Amino acid sequence: MIPDKIPVGGDIYYGAAEITKGAHVPNFQKYKELYLHSIQNPEEFWGKIAKEFYWKTPQTGSFLDYNFDHTKGKVYVKLMEGATTNICYNLLDRNVYDKKLGDKIAFYWEGNDPGDSMEITYKGLLQQVCKFANVLRAQGVKKGDRIAIYMPMIIELVVAMLACVRIGAIHSIVFAGFSSESLCERILDSRCTFLVTADGFYRGDKLINLKQVVDEALRKCRERNFHVRKCIVVKHNGGTEEAGEAETSITPESPPAKRPCQGKDNEETKNTHHKIQVPWNADVDVWWHELLKEASDECEPEWCKTEDPLFILYTSGSTGKPKGVQHTIGGYLLYTATTFKYVFNYQPDDIYWCTADIGWITGHSYVTYGPLANGATSVMFEGIPTYPDSSRFWEVIDKYKVTTFYTAPTAIRLLMKFGDGPVKRFSRQSLKILGTVGEPINPEAWHWYYTVIGNGRCPIMDTFWQTETGGHMITPLPAAIPQKPGSATFPFFGVVPAILNESGEELEGEAEGYLVFKKPWPSIMRTVYGNHERFETIYFKRFPGYFVTGDGCRRDRDGYYWITGRIDDMVNVSGHLLSTAEVESALIEHAAVAEAAVVSHPHPVKGESLYCFVTLKDGHEFTNTVVTELKNQVREKIGPIATPDYIQNAPGLPKTRSGKIMRRILRKVARNEEDLGDVSTLADESVIDELFSNRCKTT
Ligand code: WTA
Repeated sequence: MIPDKIPVGGDIYYGAAEITKGAHVPNFQKYKELYLHSIQNPEEFWGKIAKEFYWKTPQTGSFLDYNFDHTKGKVYVKLMEGATTNICYNLLDRNVYDKKLGDKIAFYWEGNDPGDSMEITYKGLLQQVCKFANVLRAQGVKKGDRIAIYMPMIIELVVAMLACVRIGAIHSIVFAGFSSESLCERILDSRCTFLVTADGFYRGDKLINLKQVVDEALRKCRERNFHVRKCIVVKHNGGTEEAGEAETSITPESPPAKRPCQGKDNEETKNTHHKIQVPWNADVDVWWHELLKEASDECEPEWCKTEDPLFILYTSGSTGKPKGVQHTIGGYLLYTATTFKYVFNYQPDDIYWCTADIGWITGHSYVTYGPLANGATSVMFEGIPTYPDSSRFWEVIDKYKVTTFYTAPTAIRLLMKFGDGPVKRFSRQSLKILGTVGEPINPEAWHWYYTVIGNGRCPIMDTFWQTETGGHMITPLPAAIPQKPGSATFPFFGVVPAILNESGEELEGEAEGYLVFKKPWPSIMRTVYGNHERFETIYFKRFPGYFVTGDGCRRDRDGYYWITGRIDDMVNVSGHLLSTAEVESALIEHAAVAEAAVVSHPHPVKGESLYCFVTLKDGHEFTNTVVTELKNQVREKIGPIATPDYIQNAPGLPKTRSGKIMRRILRKVARNEEDLGDVSTLADESVIDELFSNRCKTT
């Protein structure tokens, strides 16, 4: 239940009073009123919002139809059945033609290197999207086809995703930090027929030869008898082709005409940065700019049903196999647009910047779909917070006069280490609203963000949500919901949270337990791609009738929600969820490893890090070389984000008599906490001393 009033005083923050002027939700009473309306009459609440968008044909069935209880049949959610629309049309054509925003900047693109930047208007973006959509159609891409996208943060990434949705194709974006193995696994799982990528890019001062990773992934796909039809490559780094494994003729070097979405040339970096050699296989590879040359910039959208799939985005699964989270068109449009508008109190002259990579759900919902649906102007950033130095974020905020800044707690903690100096060199005067996402924010980082970055003026939107939820679920609203550092505060419109105990009973008032949702909201995922049963098992089996988040949660006596972290075998490293099973299976593939168990360990910047226990096979010695090999193995299998911080030699692991590894004990060993609690179910207690004596030195 939402309380009637918020207590005054104590550790509660409001931001500057001016935030309430013209706010969409000016106070807590108004929030409560809108919230209750959204719960009691979702059809009227969302129906009114739906009117702001374009539907080719209206809904014919009921507004919302669903079943959350698997014991009563298949779990499903259907919204606005019968209506047809196109999300790209709503993001671009509607803004250009109906709202007359054609000349408004959609994105200020800020490259990895300062000085490398460009801007693109809504009209410009629409033209590029239409061209690429025509290219895809000409290549034979049809409605429902899956297209893999593996790209750095460049405008062509947005162009590629919107071109897919314009023609009804389903994009599956893979974060460009994932390994070739992970990319291959994702391409195979959803049978992607096309891949869109780039030659390479700089991350800070590190050159990433993306195309090389792509080629490895495609080779692995071929070994498993799957052939991607075309690999479309954006020339971003400006490298030249070299004949690849197919040994076919090399397409002649195209004139270095400036890409429409390319930043300014930067003399300084042009000289110091290398151009890569791009491995080239003329059978499948084709340059983006070659294809776009002749393409028309007009393209009739494919009118899709609201419940048609929009995209697939893979997220870690506790069994180790990533899940293809599938979202659908209508509900995702309504929900990302509405959360963006209210949570960031969006105003037409705002300059909004979300630092997330589009490869994650935050980038999907709050770099692309939510802001564009509102006709907003955003900054899109290719770089990292510490390059060329640790004041880059603040410099970019001043450069574009950013009003709304949305980032991750891990970035805040990282920058906090450099002190206030790099921040104070810039004014940050334009800032009105701050936001965080991805993991719980510790109060110390919250206070630094609030006081130093926001000068005590800007409310902080600590937004709790998941890949599965598509948009914000528990979050403050700038003028309406005062913040407590570390709490995501209250549910967004249409969201009905509950806290359950072990036996599935709903807990009232002050309580702690499993966080679940009782009713669907428009952008709830609809299935796991190709495996509806897995969808039901993961999210609905444990507590029939509820969507289970996998997070623990506490409600305080004022009704505020506090997310306490994952309660499954997931580790949140720098805001990225990893499954311990996935890391374990990467370790076990090493020839010397007999068994592995991975647990999370607290980390001052990353939030959590991976602590691995490995049992080697007889005849193998635990050396530094083995440790390095194991770390590399995980990097190669999953990607650099999954690199373990610690690998400990564990000749014996703590197991129950039935052979189940007791991770609870391993977590204590990793943290050097000697109070192990009840160990009576341990098969062999003697392993404990050895585990403690072999502990890795941790920070
Ligand atoms: C965690 C990211 C606390 C949580 C949008 C969730 C958070 C997982 C918060 C989803 C927050 C995300 N406070 N924890 N504000 N936001 N989480 O799918 O454990 O990458 O289940 O989506 O991140 O991560 P995902």
